[in-house]
Amino acid sequence: MKFFIMTLFPEMVMDTLSTSITGRAMDRGDLIVEAVNIRDYSTDKHKSVDDYPYGGGAGMVMQAQPVYDCYESIVKRIEGSHKCIYLTPQGRVFKQSIASELSTEENLILLCGHYEGIDERVLEEIVDDYISIGDYVLTGGELPAIVLVDAVARLLPGVLHNEESAVGESFSDGLLEYPQYSRPEIWRDKTVPPILLSGDHAKVDAWRHEQSVIRTRERRPDLLGNDDLG
Ligand code: ADE
Repeated sequence: MKFFIMTLFPEMVMDTLSTSITGRAMDRGDLIVEAVNIRDYSTDKHKSVDDYPYGGGAGMVMQAQPVYDCYESIVKRIEGSHKCIYLTPQGRVFKQSIASELSTEENLILLCGHYEGIDERVLEEIVDDYISIGDYVLTGGELPAIVLVDAVARLLPGVLHNEESAVGESFSDGLLEYPQYSRPEIWRDKTVPPILLSGDHAKVDAWRHEQSVIRTRERRPDLLGNDDLG
């Protein structure tokens, strides 16, 4: 799967994604990420990409032309299907099921905004989906794009090693993950739950499922669809 990230800060995106598991996946070619600098497509002699908003108001607006030309240059190079996503607090709120849905795409073009937003006319032309990473406002779309790439990448074949498997973790079955323990058996007088040392896999599985349900009820009752029960 290939991600194209349209941004004014390509190094911010690439430096982060080149680290750790996503970096390893990129080195192996299981994940391809290309950050494309929108400023390279400015036709202005000062390479500016923003201007004052019509109608007045605070801040600057990213202009349609550089964003559109950047998008066109990417689409020309794409083989197969693609979808363009604008990261914005006005989008549908990102969650595991959306990550899963996006992981089946061949090419994703992520558009990162800055300043007070992007000229609406170019959004109407190129954007297929609007995604927010939560109900708060960040200074730009780069961190949301990194979050989206990370969450989608780890669902792609080959990206996680077996021991980091996405199976059984929080949200994979609509529940939070059960508590985990490692050596030593006793730490600061706290013992590991004895069932985990029993070697009885069926009992361990049942205990873990029960812990997942308890934890979800306590911490995220909304996931069980009965948050009003507290
Ligand atoms: N850009 C600024 N804030 C954002 C958010 N919460 N989600 C996605 N894009 C954003």
